[in-house]
Amino acid sequence: MFTHVIVKKPCRAMIDGITTADLGKPDYQLAMKQHGDYIQALEQCGVQVTVLEADEAYPDSCFVEDTAVLTRKFALITNPGAPSRKGEIASMIPVIERFYPKEAIEYIQAPGTLEGGDIMMVGDHFYIGISARTNREGAQQFIRALEKYGMSGEMVPLHTILHLKTGLSYIENNNLLISGEFLDNPTFSQFHHLKVAAGEEYGANCIWVNGKVLVPAGYPQTQKAIEALGYEVLVVDTSEYRKIDGGLSCLSLRF
Ligand code: GLY
Repeated sequence: MFTHVIVKKPCRAMIDGITTADLGKPDYQLAMKQHGDYIQALEQCGVQVTVLEADEAYPDSCFVEDTAVLTRKFALITNPGAPSRKGEIASMIPVIERFYPKEAIEYIQAPGTLEGGDIMMVGDHFYIGISARTNREGAQQFIRALEKYGMSGEMVPLHTILHLKTGLSYIENNNLLISGEFLDNPTFSQFHHLKVAAGEEYGANCIWVNGKVLVPAGYPQTQKAIEALGYEVLVVDTSEYRKIDGGLSCLSLRF
């Protein structure tokens, strides 16, 4: 169960966030409204939400998930692989220090890079996407930290997608939303697969929070498949974040 969530308001510069999508620029006012709706949905899941103020210096800084990995035993401050995002961690460190003692905070050191969007937690085991943002050195540093605390991790090479959780979401009870390049990957064969329908790939990025699942608006087959398993679904529109390659998971740190 999660008790806390950290989010950061989008800044006006978000319209210049890194993107591979061809969906136009985000509408900032709509993004702010969607962010408020996202916070409300999280609050419905019984967590205390810490809302950080926007940081105009970093267009992608609302995607706080990439700056840290918060486990039940320690926190990891990352070293984002995107050069324009590296500076985001400076303001995150004092926030994480509010929740974890200094001796339980680990750091990814260059040349290691790692972004939280590449980390999928399944109990005390962590899958680590090796992507354009997270390299093997960063993954090895994280695995060493996990082992120090009695946990484990393994690497999953990515081929086309941005982050591991762009195409996979673990929604507990052995249920895994899975799409695209992961469908035939034996690494995930032990899970019950909810295959994301063609055309709904963006819907693979959902988040489980205390028994409920937040699902992006506009992916009805994915929503139905999750509901059919008995989960209560909260639908949140993230259309403006999709325009800059962001989704439900990157918008928060849950712990
Ligand atoms: N625009 C989100 C990211 O590239 O990390």
